[in-house]
Amino acid sequence: MTFDAAAFANAATRALRTYDPGHDLPALRKRFGAGLAELGSNENPLGPSSHALTAIQAALPEVFRYPDPQGAALKAALAQHLRVDTAQITLGNGSHELLMLIAQCFADASTSIVFSEFGFAVFPIATAAAGAQAIRVPALPRDHATMPLGHDLKAMAAAIRADTRVVYIANPNNPTGTWFDDAALESFLARVPATTLVVIDEAYQEYVVESKVSSALRLLPHYPNVIVTRTFSKAYALAGLRVGYAVSAPEVAAVLELLRESFNVNGLALAAATAALADQAHVARARDWNLAEREWMAAALRKRELRVLPSQTNFVLIDFARDAAPIERALFERGVIVRPMGGYGLPECLRISVGTRAENERLLDALL
Ligand SMILES: Cc1ncc(COP(=O)(O)O)c(C=O)c1O
Repeated sequence: MTFDAAAFANAATRALRTYDPGHDLPALRKRFGAGLAELGSNENPLGPSSHALTAIQAALPEVFRYPDPQGAALKAALAQHLRVDTAQITLGNGSHELLMLIAQCFADASTSIVFSEFGFAVFPIATAAAGAQAIRVPALPRDHATMPLGHDLKAMAAAIRADTRVVYIANPNNPTGTWFDDAALESFLARVPATTLVVIDEAYQEYVVESKVSSALRLLPHYPNVIVTRTFSKAYALAGLRVGYAVSAPEVAAVLELLRESFNVNGLALAAATAALADQAHVARARDWNLAEREWMAAALRKRELRVLPSQTNFVLIDFARDAAPIERALFERGVIVRPMGGYGLPECLRISVGTRAENERLLDALL
């Protein structure tokens, strides 16, 4: 007897494609050992604060217990750090979970969701999973003077319809590394109807050094329809533990709470994130180191006449102006893992994370 599960899946699920997790990294670690340069997932190779590791050790004997379903200690620490109320914070198993949760709570088949071409990959997935209609807005052109492939906020505002429940924007954006400044965001928000939620994904915010770009958290008191998402996966270097958070109006957080799985953030992750947050000196070191290393890497790549797009993140996008698949393959065979961009509609580009100096040198050697 066979069971045609695919035929029974609901329409929203049937519309999904299986997530492409990239290369089989556990197998590659076995094959290349210490010679592997993992530059495909925008991790922070400096690793987390030692305080986070100590906190994990201390929390280990408690793993037989369920974690705090409210994550109260982490929420209190975040509230103090961000100068918001704990009722404004929703914790997630990574910010990925929160991006999905927002669409599930607020959108359905009778609504639409707006996001940019070349925006973060989870935005269309969250839209499809909610059964909502995707409105994908063309990005700024490739030859744009300052922000090639960046979000076109004017066009995004114009694309919002009466049935648009959510707009996703990432600042800075992955995979392009592009960003928009405070003035651009404010004029965008002024054009968004109060009935549309604007999700501002700030996964890379801690890396931003551009003075005209500040966190959208400052806008929350004026815009009850804004949700800011952040993560401990990048600058805090806790990607393996899966902790993210959303900051919103308390009323929005209360809705998210209805569908949030009660124990979505595990006990070790809660302890580690709370300790990591308290070590802002470590975050500052990560930011400074990333900036110096990224600029070193970008300069070395530009010296080879490669087009490196501007970035405020811990990765760069390179436009090879020809099919980049053979280049990616050649790097792969030399144990240098980067992220191909065909799935994003940018087959001429590769996204390369800032690695350790040794990894970056290996990349430059392998690119020859
Ligand atoms: C723009 C952006 N948002 C969100 C995420 C999700 O991060 P996490 O689920 O690890 O918090 C990522 C991860 O790469 C990202 O690049």
